[in-house]
Amino acid sequence: MRAGEEPTDFYSHSFDAGAAWAQMALQATVLGYHAHGMTGIEFDKARVELGLPGDIRLEAAVALGRRDAPERLPEGLREREVPSSRKDVAEIALAGNYR
Ligand SMILES: Cc1cc2nc3c(=O)[nH]c(=O)nc-3n(C[C@H](O)[C@H](O)[C@H](O)COP(=O)(O)O)c2cc1C
Repeated sequence: MRAGEEPTDFYSHSFDAGAAWAQMALQATVLGYHAHGMTGIEFDKARVELGLPGDIRLEAAVALGRRDAPERLPEGLREREVPSSRKDVAEIALAGNYR
């Protein structure tokens, strides 16, 4: 946006944020960290904590850290540390139109 211009919504915002997150996750892995994307956060609280201006949309949060042994997790979280299943590609992608 140039100085003096009225701000407008960017239609591609979510697409751009997704691309940025993917690069962040890859770079974290390269550096020996792990990244965990989340939308199950308290958006209103996060806005206040971060002091976000009204024209900035908070899309998601990312936790960055190093992996540790699941045994060190509190009970209740430990048992969740198992590989999750993956849907077949045919279930999540289609060729052509929806109809
Ligand atoms: C749009 C979106 C929102 C997500 N939100 C959360 C979240 O709020 N909390 C969480 O623990 N994981 C969340 N996840 C899941 C993790 O970021 C991650 O994708 C998942 O743990 C992948 O694990 P897996 O590789 O074992 O399947 C979200 C994933 C997506 C795509």
